[in-house]
Amino acid sequence: MRVRTFGDPALRRKAAPVSRVTASLKRLARAMAKTMQEYRGVGLAAPQVGVSSRLVVVDVGDGLHILVNPTITQADGSQVDWEGCLSYPGLLAEVERAQRVSVQATDLDGRPVWLEAEGFLARALQHEIDHLDGVVILDRARAVQTIEPDAAAEVGPEEASPARLRVAFMGTPEFAVPTLRAIADAGHQVVGVVTQPDRPAGRGRRSQPPAVKVAASQLGLPVWQGGRSEVRERLAGVLEAWDTDIAVVVAFGVILPAAVLRAPRLGCINLHASLLPAYRGAAPIQRAIMDGHEVTGVTVIQMDEGMDTGDILARREIPIQPEDTAGTLHDRLSLVGAQVVVQTLELLATGRARPTPQPAAASPVADRIRAQDEVIDWTRPAEELARQVRALNPRPGAHTVFRGHRLKLWTVEAGRPDRLAPGGHDLVPGSVVGTAGGDPVVATGQGGLVLREVQPAGKPRMSGSDLVNGYRIATGERLGP
Ligand code: NI
Repeated sequence: MRVRTFGDPALRRKAAPVSRVTASLKRLARAMAKTMQEYRGVGLAAPQVGVSSRLVVVDVGDGLHILVNPTITQADGSQVDWEGCLSYPGLLAEVERAQRVSVQATDLDGRPVWLEAEGFLARALQHEIDHLDGVVILDRARAVQTIEPDAAAEVGPEEASPARLRVAFMGTPEFAVPTLRAIADAGHQVVGVVTQPDRPAGRGRRSQPPAVKVAASQLGLPVWQGGRSEVRERLAGVLEAWDTDIAVVVAFGVILPAAVLRAPRLGCINLHASLLPAYRGAAPIQRAIMDGHEVTGVTVIQMDEGMDTGDILARREIPIQPEDTAGTLHDRLSLVGAQVVVQTLELLATGRARPTPQPAAASPVADRIRAQDEVIDWTRPAEELARQVRALNPRPGAHTVFRGHRLKLWTVEAGRPDRLAPGGHDLVPGSVVGTAGGDPVVATGQGGLVLREVQPAGKPRMSGSDLVNGYRIATGERLGP
């Protein structure tokens, strides 16, 4: 059986209870167990093979469990670990689960069964039962990472799904990679991948291929590389030669001329990491965190000649968690964005897309991060500085000055103003007013900022308390210019 992968609406439906164990349900259970083994999974739920029934199979090495209408009757303890899913090949999500669960279900003879599970089996059961409610690991992910899809899953017994569109993909950095993989997985024919030229990067300034080029080579796809002038002069012809139905553009990094926008039969669509029209521009993820928003998302637009101004084809909101950095939010948005692009292609392929113009409302813009955005201004409120630090993690990092050298701030916490050293210390913004859990607390324009993880110039990252001890920081020492 073919395992449905993300973007498939079957994964999002709440599955119907099984009223009676029939011969066809038994056949389904056996086929699912076989599929799970072929894909080398530890569990599979019926919605993953497109069947809306409350049936799961689980085998974590202690034997095969086939559970009809499973429910969790008790759950306690907690475990946090990385978890994969056959419907999300190449993805790991860090998910918190109960450590122990009691599951009630019926077996294939219609008899009630009870299962007490702990650890990994408990995790697998919770994961599969989630599938029955249309809940997937991305919904529970605290963090995500992409891995090489398991070779076994790659050669899974796919019923070849019809190649629906001839897609050219244009993208450059890591953000674009999940979308490229998802389009290929969804059965479209990726006729070629357009990316920027290799550029010097890293310590040795050696020439590095863009992340999209690496992914395209792994997928065995033809790659065309070009910068601004090649794009202007030659790309439209390349797209025509590829007989392109549609081009999907994700963080390509080069402005496309009108001839390129018109070259594919259905034009070009773009995935943008914000809820347009908010945060048009180069740094939507960082700006949304800096501005203190609780919600952001992704938008797919039909591209026109303006910057991120085209008609909206699809939008999806996701919450910004209080501990999100630009890095964690980037990873979630890139995966959610991949799903939304695949769904949009499905709508376009079947003529059901309904483009709507962007609202004309005045919206914040997402200018690229400039050098002055990285500098900590201690006269601003601690809450604002904490957001600045999260928005610039993992790149390029917010910084201040410490004993004449640059000090990067990687993890900070805005403390309550009334917790600040009451002893009549100098509360000049930028001055160290005490410690919290050994880490230095610095006065700001409003409240204190606890420095949890920092990096002095030329040194590795260290905890705030190592900074205090290693540099013998005393109360009253000033940070900043
Ligand atoms: Ni799964």
